[in-house]
Amino acid sequence: MKQFTNPITFKHGLTIKNRIAIAPMTTRMSYFNGKVTNDEINYYASRTGETGLFITGVAYIQPDGIGWTGELGVHSDDCIPGLSKLAAAIKENGSRAILQIFHAGRMTNSQTLQGLPIVAPSKVPANRPNAEISKELTIESIEDIIQNFKEATRRAILSGFDGIELHGANHFLLQQFFSPHSNRRTDKYGGSLEKRYQFIREVVDAVLATVDELAPQNFIVGYRISPREETTPGYNLEETLWLVDKLADTDLDYLHLSLTYFHGKTNLPDYQEKSMLQYIYETINGRIPLISVGQIHTRKDLEAALQHSDIAAIGSAILLDPHWIQKILTHQDDSIRHTMSPIEKDTLQISDGAFEFLAAINPDRIL
Ligand SMILES: Cc1cc2nc3c(=O)[nH]c(=O)nc-3n(C[C@H](O)[C@H](O)[C@H](O)COP(=O)(O)O)c2cc1C
Repeated sequence: MKQFTNPITFKHGLTIKNRIAIAPMTTRMSYFNGKVTNDEINYYASRTGETGLFITGVAYIQPDGIGWTGELGVHSDDCIPGLSKLAAAIKENGSRAILQIFHAGRMTNSQTLQGLPIVAPSKVPANRPNAEISKELTIESIEDIIQNFKEATRRAILSGFDGIELHGANHFLLQQFFSPHSNRRTDKYGGSLEKRYQFIREVVDAVLATVDELAPQNFIVGYRISPREETTPGYNLEETLWLVDKLADTDLDYLHLSLTYFHGKTNLPDYQEKSMLQYIYETINGRIPLISVGQIHTRKDLEAALQHSDIAAIGSAILLDPHWIQKILTHQDDSIRHTMSPIEKDTLQISDGAFEFLAAINPDRIL
């Protein structure tokens, strides 16, 4: 049986020292133009070293791809010096640094875009309060976005990251192309499952080609997915298993689920026997490592998540206790902090914006 202390080596050759990852969590600490701040570097430095894999909060690949202010940027070569400092800070003591990259698509607003239009696969507002109508992407602008995913990958390589993660989850642009809610296109990018996968295929191929051309041999590429949507129409686990099967046959180094609870089930009557994680793990069947996530707060949770995944990602628990991993590794479980009060934000180096996300996901952990 695999232990969380066992290393794992990815297809492109990178080895990580244990099976614990820090989940991507936006700090909302970057400058208005996406550049890294010193506060942000201190935040990452305070939580690294113990984890095998540290995935950064998401970074936007082009100006109209930003989702919220304070988000990390990888949209211009001017971002490279700051990103280089960030990668170096994360890589202290042997943790591997992964830059998560995305385009937010329709999951943004005019205020954040400061005059740039909101773009998405189709002109359908997102299923959330105050969602604005987006402009449908032209074929030319889709090609530009793919080019900008390549450019972002090149910048991550130049900045010294060990890899990138394509953020294809949480309703952002990559997911918007796969979703029948946001994608109503009738061209080669919309319609059948295969066509809704076309944009993902092109981005994955383009990024992997960039890595082949420019990266050191062991640079890795991961892909994050959300297993189901709550919207009608929306995709559910059945279509996700189709997507997972496709992605598992590519040259990607890992797949990463985005789950609220690692043991969560879908609502489909035919898929009630097991967790979504387990169905996905069994579909992959060893072809590619799978990262689990979602309310992993104790050793028991960690071990249970690793029964149906290869690596477990820890999010909120790391915000509440920066040394959660070290305490697990050295059997000091009793000293782990599981709650915080808002006045501790500064001591824990958590920004107001990140605290809002944390409190929304874990209201019971805020005193
Ligand atoms: C403050 C905060 C910021 C987050 N930012 C991101 C992000 O940038 N990219 C992403 O894929 N998920 C993001 N997430 C989701 C986490 O990666 C993770 O999936 C989620 O918090 C569930 O794991 P947990 O229960 O261990 O917190 C964020 C979560 C929090 C709490």
